[in-house]
Amino acid sequence: THPQVGPTQCVGPDYRSESQKPIATVSTEVKYETVVTLPQTPQLIALLTKIRDKNTERADFIFYSNRIIRLLVEEGLNHLPVVEQTITTPVGRNYAGLMFQGKICGVSIMRAGEAMEQGLRDCCRSVRIGKILIQRDEETSQPKLFYDKLPEDIAERWVLLLDPMFATGGSAIMAVEVLKSRGVPEERILFLNLIASPEGISNFATKFPKLRVVTAFVDQGLDSKNYIVPGLGDFGDRFYTI
Ligand code: URA
Repeated sequence: THPQVGPTQCVGPDYRSESQKPIATVSTEVKYETVVTLPQTPQLIALLTKIRDKNTERADFIFYSNRIIRLLVEEGLNHLPVVEQTITTPVGRNYAGLMFQGKICGVSIMRAGEAMEQGLRDCCRSVRIGKILIQRDEETSQPKLFYDKLPEDIAERWVLLLDPMFATGGSAIMAVEVLKSRGVPEERILFLNLIASPEGISNFATKFPKLRVVTAFVDQGLDSKNYIVPGLGDFGDRFYTI
């Protein structure tokens, strides 16, 4: 009953002409320099098609979500500082390379954000991971901090904040306030998510102009229950419920 909305684009390998490429809905463009959207490649669009489909069963939902999470983490790592490092190869030649500078940690917003922890561990061996639990207060209907466990030295680290669905941004804003209260400057936080809403992005960019967001896709908007549309439904339910 709802019309197809959102920008469409021909998506396919470069050696195909535009008329040979299928048309797909791609991410809405956003105007903030701090928001990085993953390249809208055929791979990414196909993975998102799998996880958005209401008929995709749980095992496939987990498998394809994990692939997108991996892409997000790999892109997120590109936003960390690096320094020059020259090494010598086994054939005695030098190679002018780079190494990461600075310590990192992950912080997941429970419960859905915990689904992104493994993807981070797969890329960063023995990475420290903290957790924040924020839930809606029944009385005020505002987000409320229920629990946090964060590395003691978090103020010295870069933080990869993990939450797959970036809807109104209410929980994420509260999570960032917690991180800032522990001494993490905004510019050392990267917020990784699979699907964002334009509302969440602009709320965030206004409040935290130096914080970077890495997202796979910016969707059309929110429905009356603050679900992202077209979205994928409740991420936590689809990932964790058998
Ligand atoms: N959280 C979800 O899991 N899905 C949405 O659409 C919004 C928030």
